[in-house]
Formats: sequence, structure tokens, C-alpha cells
Amino acid sequence: MSSLQMKDRIRAEIVTPEAKRDYVQGLFGRIADRYDLTNDLMSAGLHRRWKRLAVNMAQIGDGHVVLDLAAGTGDLSLIVGAGSTEGYEPSLVVAADLTVPMMQRGRERSGAAAVRWLACDAMDLPFPEASVDRCLVGYGLRNFPDLGQCLRELRRVLKPGGRLVTLDFGRAEPQWLDRAYLRYLEASGSVAGWIMHRDIESYRYIAESLRTYPAQRAVATLMQYAGFVRCGSLDLMFGTMAINFGDVPN
Ligand SMILES: C[S@@+](CC[C@H](N)C(=O)[O-])C[C@H]1O[C@@H](n2cnc3c(N)ncnc32)[C@H](O)[C@@H]1O
Repeated sequence: MSSLQMKDRIRAEIVTPEAKRDYVQGLFGRIADRYDLTNDLMSAGLHRRWKRLAVNMAQIGDGHVVLDLAAGTGDLSLIVGAGSTEGYEPSLVVAADLTVPMMQRGRERSGAAAVRWLACDAMDLPFPEASVDRCLVGYGLRNFPDLGQCLRELRRVLKPGGRLVTLDFGRAEPQWLDRAYLRYLEASGSVAGWIMHRDIESYRYIAESLRTYPAQRAVATLMQYAGFVRCGSLDLMFGTMAINFGDVPN
């Protein structure tokens, strides 16, 4: 299959919300066993620094209920779960994800850490209204079938004064850098996919999902539409990565 045919195939697979949900679940199911190693290789370990920054920006406090949505193998939950050494003690950390094999890896890693694991779809969260203090989403927004619907769900489950912090790939400026970065992602994704899984499509998906993702500035606007206030974004590495944040009004 040529590179162009592969791009077209991935685009066709993620064109409707239902198809995208199934495609994404299948993909993460296939790559779960080497997901963490591939992340370290593709970001030269930097994703760990960005994740710690995202957790700091969530301003987690004692007794907070923290939701790590699209938790995958649980990096963010593990950072939050270790919070007592950082001076705060959350009352509950819930790691929620659609893909069971990702969570199985996470469970193996989390050991004694006080993290509860929950299989669910971000489009329809099984939490009562105003029951969560902080929500973190690491590299999840880009994968959701309907971003607006997920942000409305998060607004619903967060308490007044609650905070949402997300970390994901972004779109860089200027445009030449954005184009170059997308090409880099395609190439490095193909290599990583082949080395790790003998499958170049798995990580080519990152670049394709990013092409249809509204990215950091539009995500801030979508958060406002969903009812968050003080929404904004912080660019990392010239905007190739970004953290978005927003608060629920008191
Ligand atoms: C790139 S991984 C991120 C994992 C982890 N948060 C991290 O930062 O390393 C994306 C995760 O989003 C999950 N996901 C995708 N669509 C989802 C949905 N509709 N509901 C819940 N989780 C979803 C996938 O199963 C996958 O584990």
C-alpha cells in the first residue's frame, strides 16, 4: 500500500464518530504492550516532563477527586497518586479509558498506588453531575469521536470551582514548522510502528488525527462553548505540544 493510500484509508476509518471510536479502540488495543516504550522513544522522554507540568497546572488539593480521562497506561494517574510527596493527598484518583488492554498495562504498573480503574467512553461518563474536582486528559482529546460532546460531559461532572487540564499534540506556528513537524511525525511514526509492531499504520495515525484536530487555540474556544471559564492554552516546543486549561465557574 502506498503512503497516499494509507493516509486515505486512515482518514476513511475515522470519518464518522462511531467508526473513529472503533478504530481508535482497536488501535490502542494492538499497541498497548509497547505504548510506554514507544512514547519514551518518540519524545526522547520529554512526555514525562510535560505530564508533570500538566499535573502541576491542575492545582490538585487535599481531598480532591481526580479523574484521569483517556488514562491509557496511567502515567498521569501515577503522578497524581504519588501526590502526597508533593504536599497534597487526593481522596480518589480514577483512571478511566475505553481500551481494556491499555488499562491492564496500567494496572500492572500502578502496583500499590491508590488508583481506581474504570472502563468507559468519554462521550458518556458514568459519574454524577458535579462529582469531580479535577480532570486531566493526556493525549486523549484528539482521539475522541466528538470533542464538543466530551467537553460538555466534563463540564457536567466537574464541581463548581473544578478545573480541566489537557495535554496533547498541537499545531505549530509558523506554518512551515507545522508542515515540517507533521512530516516528521509521519516518518518517525512509520519507523516506530515498524520497529515496535511490524505495522507502520499504528503510529501514522498520530499525524492523521492531528490533521483533523482543531488544536490548542480552537480547543480553548470549544471549552468556552462547553461552559468553562478562564480558558487558555500554553504552547510547548513552539506549539507542537500544548496544554489547555479551563475552570468551572463557582
Ligand atoms: C494516546 S493514549 C493516552 C494515554 C495516556 N493518557 C498518556 O498520556 O500516555 C489515548 C487513550 O485514549 C483512549 N481513548 C480513546 N477514545 C476514547 C474514548 N472515547 N473514551 C475513553 N478513552 C478513549 C485510548 O483508549 C487510549 O488509551
